[in-house]
Amino acid sequence: MKDLNIKIYSDGADIEDMVQRDVSNDVDGFTTNPTLMAKDGVTDYIEFAKEALSKIKEKSISFEVFSDDIEDMYRQAIILRDLGENVYVKIPVSNTKKEMTYDLIKRLSSEGVKLNVTAIFTIEQIEKVYEALNKNIPAIISIFSGRIANAGIDPEPFIKHAVSLAKDTPCIEILWASSREVFNLIQAERCGCHIITMAPSLLNAANKELGKDLAQFSLETVEMFYKDANNAGYNF
Ligand code: G3P
Repeated sequence: MKDLNIKIYSDGADIEDMVQRDVSNDVDGFTTNPTLMAKDGVTDYIEFAKEALSKIKEKSISFEVFSDDIEDMYRQAIILRDLGENVYVKIPVSNTKKEMTYDLIKRLSSEGVKLNVTAIFTIEQIEKVYEALNKNIPAIISIFSGRIANAGIDPEPFIKHAVSLAKDTPCIEILWASSREVFNLIQAERCGCHIITMAPSLLNAANKELGKDLAQFSLETVEMFYKDANNAGYNF
């Protein structure tokens, strides 16, 4: 992939794919979430995490708590933290009852737990999460840029604001989450964002297509139309 000044994390739950990207140094870290794990057929949450950590020992991996009770989220966070040195514990910014997790974030971060605060969509959430974090403990603020863009809103100002908040706190990194296209890499980098997560399919597209000559890309597209029309037996 073209030289970029941003860390790339793979966002998925396919252990084989994760290990292969770890060994080939295709990415700098990993994230997952309960939805991705369920989609990839994971049945035992902790067994999955343990297996991933037995194979990926250095690069950062984020695992998410999923309890809907704030005190129980704390319990899950400690269990996840204890699984490995390279674990970041993902804490959603609220539960489904609209109770914000700022106090929990403050508690865990002040106890030295590395956090990845997730499902962040608003400037207020960015500011309150940043405020709650211990500035000397590593943490990631995950802004759901793709979903924000799907709502018809430009996510770049959100990322820039977060990057500027964290400019003097190197332990706190801003992450462009929920990428939708390869161009998001360019957008995240030009905002000064520290990390971007991409699904394996998007990583493959980036490896294949980033920096591609457009005239050549055009030709390949025309070839695709020609081949598919012929294979379908179209004739008129
Ligand atoms: O894992 C967090 C995030 O990157 C998932 O994004 O919007 O594709 O579900 P999304």
